[in-house]
Amino acid sequence: MHEERNADQKKFWDGPTGQKWVQYQTDMDRNLADANAGVLRLAAAKPGERVLDIGCGAGQTSYLLAAAVGPKGHVTGVDISTPLLGAARSHAPKNAEFIHADAAFHPFKPEYDLIFSRFGVMFFDDPAEAFANIHKAARPGARLAFVCWRPVPENAWVVTPAAAAQPFLPPSPPADPLAPGPFAFADPKRVEGILTKAGFRNVKIEKLDGRMHLGSSAENAALQMTNIGPLSRALNEVEDEAVKDKVRAAVTKAFEAMKKDGEVAPAIACWLVSASA
Ligand SMILES: C[S@@+](CC[C@H](N)C(=O)[O-])C[C@H]1O[C@@H](n2cnc3c(N)ncnc32)[C@H](O)[C@@H]1O
Repeated sequence: MHEERNADQKKFWDGPTGQKWVQYQTDMDRNLADANAGVLRLAAAKPGERVLDIGCGAGQTSYLLAAAVGPKGHVTGVDISTPLLGAARSHAPKNAEFIHADAAFHPFKPEYDLIFSRFGVMFFDDPAEAFANIHKAARPGARLAFVCWRPVPENAWVVTPAAAAQPFLPPSPPADPLAPGPFAFADPKRVEGILTKAGFRNVKIEKLDGRMHLGSSAENAALQMTNIGPLSRALNEVEDEAVKDKVRAAVTKAFEAMKKDGEVAPAIACWLVSASA
């Protein structure tokens, strides 16, 4: 039964994690400014187009796409998180709508000129099946454009806090690189295979390097990176508040040490992925 698929991710994003993302969304939108600019440039949404924003979260990209397609265009944001969709709907422009659905199974009509995502497509249990379904949303000649993460070691925004936290956390088993999660699309060959199998053509995968703009306060940067993101998943398993405090203090110190020009801005390494339907 497909209802059982993506169940872990639905629980994750629909619960406290979704609420924390809403709480930190203004920070997140600033953090992701470099990746955001890169993927919007790649997508090149045009007036009058119909756009599908997969894993739209609190909706910043949907709003920007809605502005780009103008009153004759339309944006549909799709997500599985009730709290994030609530945030997205609260400021929605007239030409954007938000639907609560699993993009892997929603019965899309072939009505979209552009299928877009900012970090929202790496969470499917079966990505080939999910992208075969997403392909059904494409009009003939439609474009796909999304941004996803390159491997963890290239992403200082993950490595720096994880290294600072490591002495205080129990050893964790090595992560499965194919498991649903932020780094599931780190291997570009895998991504190309998934998209090709799903029916996409002309797959192009390019590097995007930039910074995560965590702001001027190392303490706030540490709060963000311990409340949301990969380290938060490890900390969710920790019950001892004293350990959590030690982790936050160590991450704050590490971020303080990397401050440059008054900003905590560790490196980000992403793939910009495009294809035609
Ligand atoms: C890392 S967040 C990115 C959110 C947003 N695109 C942004 O950049 O702020 C990933 C998003 O994908 C959504 N998501 C995960 N699995 C999904 C699925 N199967 N169908 C639709 N959305 C999904 C999550 O609820 C979450 O909002």
